[in-house]
Amino acid sequence: MIKKAKPKVKIDKKAALALEVEIAGLELRNPVMTASGTFGYGSEFAPYTDLEKLGAIIVKGLSLKPRHGNPSPRIVETPCGMLNAIGLQNVGVEAFIKNKLLFLRKLKTPVIANIFGETVDDYRELALRLEDAGGVAALEINISCPNVKKGGIAFGTDPVEAHKVVSAVTSAVRLPVITKLSPNVTDIRVMVRAVQDAGTNAITLINTIPGLVVDVEKRRPMLANVIGGLSGPAIRPIAVRMVWEAKSVAKVPLIGSGGIISANDALEFILAWATAVQVGTANFLDPDAAVKVAVGIAGYCKRHNAAVKSLVGGMKARE
Ligand SMILES: Cc1cc2nc3c(=O)[nH]c(=O)nc-3n(C[C@H](O)[C@H](O)[C@H](O)COP(=O)(O)O)c2cc1C
Repeated sequence: MIKKAKPKVKIDKKAALALEVEIAGLELRNPVMTASGTFGYGSEFAPYTDLEKLGAIIVKGLSLKPRHGNPSPRIVETPCGMLNAIGLQNVGVEAFIKNKLLFLRKLKTPVIANIFGETVDDYRELALRLEDAGGVAALEINISCPNVKKGGIAFGTDPVEAHKVVSAVTSAVRLPVITKLSPNVTDIRVMVRAVQDAGTNAITLINTIPGLVVDVEKRRPMLANVIGGLSGPAIRPIAVRMVWEAKSVAKVPLIGSGGIISANDALEFILAWATAVQVGTANFLDPDAAVKVAVGIAGYCKRHNAAVKSLVGGMKARE
């Protein structure tokens, strides 16, 4: 049973200043965000953590229409991680605006809406509706989704399609746009260039990595969908490597996502050029994980007498 008591978190004033970062024009009190799909719509976690101690809240991916997602089983544990095939279940953008934004608008923490669609027009439409609704500080575009007009190939694996979808959003709205890249490509730098040219204001790396777990007794896949997305500490070195590679061509700030459980994990990303980070799978283990990561980063900054901003890219790759 998870206790409902909110933990007491102490970050003194000087440490708080050391944690501030800016992403795509958004001033964040600290660099720790909750990753989309692992933190519901925020309100579900309110009894277990202090939402106002987070850098930003990224909500579950939103589509134009509500989605029930894939049949069960949809989640299976793996060594140092999990495989999920939730199938982007969500309430749909209208219900989000009507029922979920009310609560989120009252928070002092910026809310980032993660969006996905089946066509370029879907993304554009979603972006416009969310901007009109007010109360959303930025958009995060999930491009790891099949493009139905292009035979189902994911937007995020084709630089031309990725450019189209990101341009459609950046040209339609004034809200800052963050593009979340799929790791399922040969050279991440090609995708970074494509979305950057399309006007994205920041880039998140990485989404989950496709995987398959087999039940050998039943000789069946563990997930009803057969394939799922691998997340958790198992993918962290891959994600850190991709942030590092992305930086060689990126001019916009990078946000690291993949296997962050502790402040140390988050600092790996920051030292390898991430300006901010997202905590995902760790929320399933501890609903207060993201706040604990922020507190741990504050401790590191104090010990090293450094501000987070000065740590970005602080890894010395070679002597
Ligand atoms: C259950 C689950 C649902 C997810 N749903 C979404 C989603 O709706 N949109 C999205 O962009 N990423 C989604 N993700 C990916 C996460 O936001 C995150 O990028 C990824 O899991 C890697 O970080 P982690 O290892 O800290 O979980 C989901 C991940 C999990 C585990």
